[in-house]
Amino acid sequence: MLDQLEDLGQEALSGLEAMEDGDALDAWYKQYLGKKGALTLALRSVGDLPREERPAFGRAGNELKGKLEAAYQACAQAVAQAEMERELEQGALDVTLPGRPIGPGHLHITTQTLRQLTAIFAEMGFQVYEAPEVETDELNFGLLNMPPHHPARDMWDTFWINDEVLLRTHTSPGQVRVMRERYPEPIRVILPGKCYRYEQITARSEHQFYQVEGLAVGHAITMTDLIGTLTEFARRFYGPDRRIRIRGSYFPFTEPSIEADMDCILCHGEGCRVCNYSGWLEVCGAGMVNPVVLQNGGYDPGEWSGFAFGFGVERPALVKYGIDDIRLFYGNDLRFLGQF
Ligand code: PHE
Repeated sequence: MLDQLEDLGQEALSGLEAMEDGDALDAWYKQYLGKKGALTLALRSVGDLPREERPAFGRAGNELKGKLEAAYQACAQAVAQAEMERELEQGALDVTLPGRPIGPGHLHITTQTLRQLTAIFAEMGFQVYEAPEVETDELNFGLLNMPPHHPARDMWDTFWINDEVLLRTHTSPGQVRVMRERYPEPIRVILPGKCYRYEQITARSEHQFYQVEGLAVGHAITMTDLIGTLTEFARRFYGPDRRIRIRGSYFPFTEPSIEADMDCILCHGEGCRVCNYSGWLEVCGAGMVNPVVLQNGGYDPGEWSGFAFGFGVERPALVKYGIDDIRLFYGNDLRFLGQF
């Protein structure tokens, strides 16, 4: 019987020798020291032995049990240590690796377009003047020759803040602001900025958008100067071959008023989807500054004359880059913005 114990001990200890992982170690414990383990069963069978053999067997069995327990503890520690080291090695964090680069951002397509526009007009001698987006009824309408209840006010659906204050519907109120500030000097300015209209949002119109207003006031300024300026602008912005066409129009603050079109940059006047098969693209509203407005700005219309124009900024960008939906400008989608 004692021989059997010795064999069992040897087998158990050699089983621990190559032990590497925790699961196998658990199985080993179960096999020898668990409730139904070989040694446990052997010790329990001590009663089956002849009386005189029992003490020696019991002593040897318990000794072996202590030995195996100790060997198990030592092995468990070694296995845990090895597992931890393996884990550290696999999940290693190399702090010397360079970080993931965050690319520099860039200007929004509207800002880029605004800068192109201001650069072109700067070369033609136009200074940049900024006027507020929150305006008075008087500047947005009244001083532009639209007294209260004037029917032309309906041309601009308006966000009202109260009876006298509104979000400007166009950059034209800036005309009067500049004139009042600059009198009696001649003026050549552009006024870029955001405007607001109480309109349905569609692929072609937003309720907020940018405009660039132009204003020149001086002695003997004529319609020819206006047409020349617009033609020069179209050629610098869209390309040297552009042609301009002038149509009669109506704005209360210009007299006479015109609308300027440009031959379509996509079909060169043949007619296509972008120009609605007309061959022409609308560029801007314009005209000679109405004498009433000159007067409201402090300039005597007997001595002074001027021209003004106003155009949207998103539309030209739309046409130039072939974008089919104006809502993309304010959609904050990086997949769109990253393309420009
Ligand atoms: N303010 C006009 C508009 O928003 C455009 C315009 C500006 C027309 C200057 C004539 C002169 O529709």
